[in-house]
Amino acid sequence: MSSLLLRNIRFLALAETHPQASYAGTAMQHIPVIEDAFLLIEKSKIANFGPMETCPVQADEVVDCSGRAVLPAWCDSHTHLVFARSREEEFVDRIKGLSYEEIARRGGGILNSARRLQEASEAELFESAWGRLREVISYGTGAIEIKSGYGLTVESELKMLRVIRRLGEKAPIPVKATFLGAHALPPAYQSDRKAYLDLIVNEMLPRIAEENLADYVDAFCEKGFFTVAEMERVMEAGAKYGLKAKVHTNQFNSMGGIEAAVAHGAVSVDHLEVVSDAELEILKSGQSIPTLLPSAPFFIGGHYQPARKLIDAGLPVALATDYNPGSTPSGRMQFVLALACLKCGMLPEEAICAATLNGAKAMELEAELGSIAMGKRGSFVLTAPLPSLAYLPYAFGTDLVERVYIDGQCRVDKRSVFID
Ligand code: NIG
Ligand code: FE
Repeated sequence: MSSLLLRNIRFLALAETHPQASYAGTAMQHIPVIEDAFLLIEKSKIANFGPMETCPVQADEVVDCSGRAVLPAWCDSHTHLVFARSREEEFVDRIKGLSYEEIARRGGGILNSARRLQEASEAELFESAWGRLREVISYGTGAIEIKSGYGLTVESELKMLRVIRRLGEKAPIPVKATFLGAHALPPAYQSDRKAYLDLIVNEMLPRIAEENLADYVDAFCEKGFFTVAEMERVMEAGAKYGLKAKVHTNQFNSMGGIEAAVAHGAVSVDHLEVVSDAELEILKSGQSIPTLLPSAPFFIGGHYQPARKLIDAGLPVALATDYNPGSTPSGRMQFVLALACLKCGMLPEEAICAATLNGAKAMELEAELGSIAMGKRGSFVLTAPLPSLAYLPYAFGTDLVERVYIDGQCRVDKRSVFID
């Protein structure tokens, strides 16, 4: 198929005549939307778009999109998609009153996932993660970042990253890999934290660099996990191998992680359930994209991210799923949009922008994905008929993604789920 024409699109979202790398502050609620539009894809790339009056007449395939919206495919910039087993027993423990931190202190949480992952073969891990990757593509995800961090030994971290590489080789969508060796301190190092940091810096990172297995480096900067100084050491060690940072910080406590990550030039600072006024100022002075993961507090409790405060301060905000077995066993971006609106005070257009272009920017993919712009990849979502773009987060339980196109190819089509 060399050309594909979508006609009569009710809302063509993020259709950019002058492409931006991201949108910040008030610009997020004023993303460009063309009503009654067309979109032309040629050789897998966006070749033209605009109002229907200017629509070309011919193409190899023509799709009538009456009543429907077309949006750039979701860009999910923060996931832990590779894991060995689900953790619903901890979910039940939380219902009974234990907190996420208490479960972690008892050896549950990340360490629970690490034990399981260490026992699993690369083939098993690949198989289960591949199923999840196919699932999220069916929700409309067109680019994804996946972290290691359930290995916590040299061999198991490498195993995870090799799985992530294979996922990227097989998947039709771009997969960015992040090394998260500093996710939790393994029990064997409880009395010698420095030795684990040495292992990350002196053994894991050189092997990862040698096999070219990661795009980014991450650390979980949090009480009971890693300190600011430890995160700084990991970021600096990663930088020696050309790995930029994307970090977990301010999930439960504000301890200086934002300041350190912004000073280091991190691509993104993720979670941010807790942000002080001083940290807001630091974010404004830097380039790191604040990346919010509202399905984590939805699932484990706690504060929702102060998106309104961040956007009103003029910042760009990205949204991601954080898909993982502990704090967010879901990779559904449409639900993240609903939470962002309902619980973080974001407007529907802001949420769409955060889940597409700003997410692409948080993976350095904004030149090829994240918006409808000339020359970008033809990766987009065709929705079911809907009355407005606000309907997407509003109808939070309805799967409104009818088709998913990746590089101009229809990869998912849910129009005929029921045979009448
Ligand atoms: O982003 N907070 C740290 N890491 C993950 C959760 C990991 C887990 O519980 O397995 C997160 O929420
Ligand atoms: Fe995470």
